[in-house]
Amino acid sequence: MGILDEDIQRIRDATDIVAVVSEHVQLKRVGRRFQGLCPFHSEKTPSFSVNQEAGLYYCFGCRASGDVITFVREVEKLDFVGAVEKLASRAGITLRYTDTGEHESRKHKAALYEAVERAVEWYHQRLLTAPDAAKARAYLRSRGFDGNDVRRYRIGWAPEGWDELARALRLPENVFVGSGLGFLNRQRRPTDAFRGRVVFPVFDTEGRAVGFGARILPGGQGPKYKNSAQSAIYDKSRLLYGLNWAKGEIVNADEAIVCEGYTDVIGFAKAGLPRAVATCGTALTGEHLRLLKSFARRVVLAFDADAAGQNAAERFYEWERQYEIDVAVAALPTGVDPSDLARDDPQALLRAVAEAEPFLGFRVNRVLATMPLSTPEQRARAAEAALDVVREHPSDLVRDQYLLDVAARTRIDPERLRERAARTRRAAGAKSGDRRADRAQLRQPGAPGGRDSIREGPEIEALRLLVCRPDEVRDWLFEELFGDDLSLAAYRALVETDGVRAAIERADPAAGELLRRIAVEESTAEPLDVVDLLLAEAGRRAITELEAEVRLADDPLAYSQTIAWLKLTIEDLQSEHPSVGSREQLLAWLTQQSEDEG
Ligand code: UTP
Ligand code: MN
Repeated sequence: MGILDEDIQRIRDATDIVAVVSEHVQLKRVGRRFQGLCPFHSEKTPSFSVNQEAGLYYCFGCRASGDVITFVREVEKLDFVGAVEKLASRAGITLRYTDTGEHESRKHKAALYEAVERAVEWYHQRLLTAPDAAKARAYLRSRGFDGNDVRRYRIGWAPEGWDELARALRLPENVFVGSGLGFLNRQRRPTDAFRGRVVFPVFDTEGRAVGFGARILPGGQGPKYKNSAQSAIYDKSRLLYGLNWAKGEIVNADEAIVCEGYTDVIGFAKAGLPRAVATCGTALTGEHLRLLKSFARRVVLAFDADAAGQNAAERFYEWERQYEIDVAVAALPTGVDPSDLARDDPQALLRAVAEAEPFLGFRVNRVLATMPLSTPEQRARAAEAALDVVREHPSDLVRDQYLLDVAARTRIDPERLRERAARTRRAAGAKSGDRRADRAQLRQPGAPGGRDSIREGPEIEALRLLVCRPDEVRDWLFEELFGDDLSLAAYRALVETDGVRAAIERADPAAGELLRRIAVEESTAEPLDVVDLLLAEAGRRAITELEAEVRLADDPLAYSQTIAWLKLTIEDLQSEHPSVGSREQLLAWLTQQSEDEG
């Protein structure tokens, strides 16, 4: 039984969150927000902050967040309906109830979980016992997996017939199709999704079966893997294969290994590293890293050492900053999968993980390894290219150590290289450094003690401004200024809705969480300072893209002119006295670019 949405909204509108919170917490007004000691964890300095207008709270210490209903639920240990009823009687509102809606969707999900679980067991028994699974068993043995592995990971066999699972399980159509186990063919007959494949069941973090990765046998027809479609219980962008088994180990070791596939996860565990996870046929995203971050502070990438894997790895540098997670890269022998290495030379696999290099080191090595170093000119060019990579790192101490390494390997005097790095960095760094200090101060009222240092930078500042002083920044902001997926998602949610509350509801969970925090912060930053920083960063991203394209271009000269112009404009924007034209021109150019592409 649920409560009408309309009534829930009436309760929210009629209730002053500050009044309700004040019954439990002593709040003090600070600027436009209220602060007090968090009721959800013990603390001596206040980290708990309330935005009265938006009706939201956020704790910078324990990250508890929500609206007045969440607050009452948590503080009084009530369920949702109980909390709403309590607030209703407080506000003198009579509630109306429904018995559809959420209840139905919960029932549907429960049916999907049960269906997938039954399929896991059915496929598994087929693999263990059916004569037609003999070649599947032989294949798994050839990959180094024995009966224990098959049972532990509940590996199965989907037979060749077109509806064997459908006939065995006899599920209602909406469950059979909704769970991704099958589809209706043209005659509207239930048809199995996986046929003639070894199936690896995928479990969510809590260990519930939610989908499959299904591999063809060698010589079979079709794509090597078929993965279950997304469903109400299976969201691939938020799920990692193996996390249900590995999470304990990941917490213990404070490290997760991310590899490419189902067989690799199993191989790692067999080799003695039961802390590997993999995506399910999708690219690794920021969402996945966010998920891992709640278990460990270090992630080791163990992708196939082929080009695709390495290029994908390069995106991680951004995430390292964004999620405050250390990303290291394990150098695996070219063309060898972790699962094969686990079978053939487990020691080498352990070594590769133990010797995983920090992400920046990996990138510097990539640059130096791919460029010729025989002549002084070549070494100078390689040093410049390597410095470009080093420069992206936020810490000057880290940068300097890599600089020494680059100097040694290109046989350039370290002092020369330092001078060069300082020169190219001055324009890019000096002024934004000052501003960063300003911003740190401005954040004080919102984030006591600056405890919450995650995901800072101009993009976040812009979002803060958009929440508390929308009229001053709205017209300056546009999507291309947000290079970070999470900030971009939060930005979109804010401009597509009216007010931060609605934005939180519209946003995906990760962006929603960021917005819940921002909702209780304030910004006293100068909007145009923030815009200039965003423009400069967007300009730098554009340069990186152009530099990648220039190699393939028919007309490299046009590219280098644009790149040179961008560099000058950015430099000017970050100088002590930027010219008015730079901002407008760069803005115009960036919007033009995105229109051309879109
Ligand atoms: P691999 O091609 O390495 O799979 O893909 P594999 O089973 O280890 O095969 P071999 O023996 O090395 O040739 C790794 C992961 O990429 C995804 C799957 O998640 C797989 O586990 N993948 C691969 C797909 O989603 N679809 C494909 O067609 C291939
Ligand atoms: Mn493989």
